[in-house]
Amino acid sequence: MILCLCEGVSDRAIDDAIRAGARSVRQVTRATGAGTGCGSCACDVRSRLKATRQAEPVRCTAGRGNVAG
Ligand code: FES
Repeated sequence: MILCLCEGVSDRAIDDAIRAGARSVRQVTRATGAGTGCGSCACDVRSRLKATRQAEPVRCTAGRGNVAG
């Protein structure tokens, strides 16, 4: 599905950019070109970023001590 009509950027291309490390709308824009026209797709990009972050496993670095004793 085309998410950014102005630049013809698909939802898949945006998801690929997020998986490759884009963590903000600006970074997705740089990677894909989405959002460089009218800007109306920015909310959709933001939603995909948020959904991806919520789907990522929580990385916990606290309590790295020897639990087993
Ligand atoms: S729809 Fe993406 S910039 Fe217009």
